[in-house]
Amino acid sequence: MASTLDRLIDQVRENRIWRSIFRSGTGESNLHRSLFVQQNVFLHLFSVKARKRTLEFSATWYLGALTFGTFLILVITGVLLMLYYHPSVPQAYVDMKDLQFVVSSGVFLRNLHRWSAHAMVFLVFAHMFKVFYRGAYRPPREFNWVIGVVLLLMTLLLSYTGYLLPWDQLAFWAVTVGSNIASAVPVMGGKMRFLMLGGTAVNANALLRFYVLHCVILPFAAILFIAIHFWRIRKDGGIYPGESAAEGDAK
Ligand code: HEM
Repeated sequence: MASTLDRLIDQVRENRIWRSIFRSGTGESNLHRSLFVQQNVFLHLFSVKARKRTLEFSATWYLGALTFGTFLILVITGVLLMLYYHPSVPQAYVDMKDLQFVVSSGVFLRNLHRWSAHAMVFLVFAHMFKVFYRGAYRPPREFNWVIGVVLLLMTLLLSYTGYLLPWDQLAFWAVTVGSNIASAVPVMGGKMRFLMLGGTAVNANALLRFYVLHCVILPFAAILFIAIHFWRIRKDGGIYPGESAAEGDAK
């Protein structure tokens, strides 16, 4: 049975259409495996080789990967939520209620998005602390730490901009308080608040601005920076293997 399945898999992999997409072809050799990674637009961001030690749970607690996992859930559930949500003052709150009472599995969808957002904020901080604790921020990984700080800010901004979208009392007043805090910044505070809200009050302009930031600008920027983050791990010599292994390399 297993051999029939293997033969079938080999046949698919040798097929002309398959080979036109995945050029590395069949084979279980290390060369084939590395070609498979190198020639894939997504996988080539990652290293072809990895130290066994860095793949163990103890090395990273998989916190970076889990953060990325929650980000993927957020993108998928976010796109589905966009099918039901209108960013307009008369409609936004009604859409939330429809998701709760009318749309099938709407509550599940909304809660999955909400809880994944909470989880991502928690995980991104935990990942940052783990990287710091291991000393993995030191050269040559210092630039990736800076990219990480940008990702941390983006995660927080994504959370904040999403908060206004339900257009309920909690959202309205949270953004009123948040934008007032921004206006306390010396010299340019007032301008910052104006830019953030698209006016002087939390109204339809602010809702539209937060919607575009939350659903378009910030997610695309985050995808770009995550890609740079992963690519840098490869360029910096893979995941930090720990003090003793790194010293061994230097010798
Ligand atoms: C959207 C947010 C983020 C995602 C999806 C993400 C993802 C990852 C992944 C998958 C790894 C490799 C495995 C691991 O170390 O867990 C990694 C490594 C790293 N991350 Fe992040 N990260 C994020 C945010 C951050 C933040 C906030 C910082 C620090 C300010 C940071 C700094 C680093 C550094 C320096 C490495 C290399 C560590 C090493 O080589 O062991 N990252 N990240």
